Amino acid sequence: MAGKPLGIGLIGCGDIAPTHAKALAEATGARLIACMDVVASSAKSLGEEYGVPHSTHVEELLDRPDVDAVTLATPAFTHADLAEQAAEAGKAVLCEKPLATDLRDADRIIGACRQAGVALATCFPLRYLGAAKWTRELLEAGALGEVIEVRLRNLGEKQDSYWTGGFSGRTITDWRRSKGQSGGGVVITNLIHHLDLVRGITGLEVIRAYGEMGRFMTEVEVEDLAAACLRYDNNAVGVVEGSSCFFGGAAEPEVVLLGKRGQSRFGLWSGRAEVYLTEAAAGLPAREWTEREFPDSAQVELYEEFAAAVRGGVAPPITGEDGRKALEIVLAIYQSADKREPVSLPLVAEEDRV
Ligand SMILES: NC(=O)c1ccc[n+]([C@@H]2O[C@H](COP(=O)([O-])OP(=O)(O)OC[C@H]3O[C@@H](n4cnc5c(N)ncnc54)[C@H](O)[C@@H]3O)[C@@H](O)[C@H]2O)c1
Repeated sequence: MAGKPLGIGLIGCGDIAPTHAKALAEATGARLIACMDVVASSAKSLGEEYGVPHSTHVEELLDRPDVDAVTLATPAFTHADLAEQAAEAGKAVLCEKPLATDLRDADRIIGACRQAGVALATCFPLRYLGAAKWTRELLEAGALGEVIEVRLRNLGEKQDSYWTGGFSGRTITDWRRSKGQSGGGVVITNLIHHLDLVRGITGLEVIRAYGEMGRFMTEVEVEDLAAACLRYDNNAVGVVEGSSCFFGGAAEPEVVLLGKRGQSRFGLWSGRAEVYLTEAAAGLPAREWTEREFPDSAQVELYEEFAAAVRGGVAPPITGEDGRKALEIVLAIYQSADKREPVSLPLVAEEDRV
């Protein structure tokens, strides 16, 4: 396989699927081979647009020898069964977030891939944002000092149509409205990205979470507004805020990291990051904001690194364990909101279903 792009089979041709297909068209180390969806029209339109065979049968895709790996772009409640099937067929797995809706399914996915000896990665492309990588470099160089606070915000207004068709309406489904099928609302759907980013940038782990949330304005089973406080294993504090009914919208989703020597703040859409240091370091001045803008090629970079890892026989940069860890923080926030008390991590096995 050396030198040949990694062949990807795309399972699920709904809202997020074109993002994968487009990234694969731009990547050099991986390419789209075939796609499938249980809804024929969704599979057909994606397959035709990207010029690849399409199917409604997963076996057809998994039987193809030119498919080295699959991307699971289906709802989270389907990930465990599909990952097991793919692993048994000897295919590496790139799984959309959230890895699963509970830790039992997350463990099934990790176990199936380990047993079959295939690579497993979780799709958290925001780790490849230039702003995130810059912040990590500044932290590693000591320029920002030790992290003492993180602030994570995702305040948006999702239209009624989102709950049945996502942002594009490519496939009409109702899993987003169902707590059982989606796992939850804005925390598991959106803030899981921010929570993973902090892990990816800082290496810090959450040891305690306290959440408050509700379903205020939307006819769904999941929360449409949530806030949480976190404690990290170095004693840093986290402040988390999310909403899908923030009428009029708010600033773009944001990550702020406060260190003992300054702060970094960046948006998840604009590619813009701003850094303020109390002492000059890493080529940056003291007591002035420095702004940088980065081009967005996060999804392409994720595929390049996933492909290189699979081809090299090493673990992908963002593993199944990373997907499980992010999910565990989300579940701790949900549990604490249910119990009306802080919840410590790691979660104990009996408590992993919310
Ligand atoms: N990384 C991101 O930024 C991001 C953004 C949006 C969605 N997602 C995630 O991607 C996944 C899919 O989300 P979406 O918004 O595209 O959902 P969607 O409902 O629009 O699309 C999912 C597709 O999967 C198909 N499907 C369902 N069960 C299947 C099965 N067993 N086999 C094959 N196809 C099946 C559906 O018919 C549908 O077309 C979710 O886990 C979601 O959280 C990630």
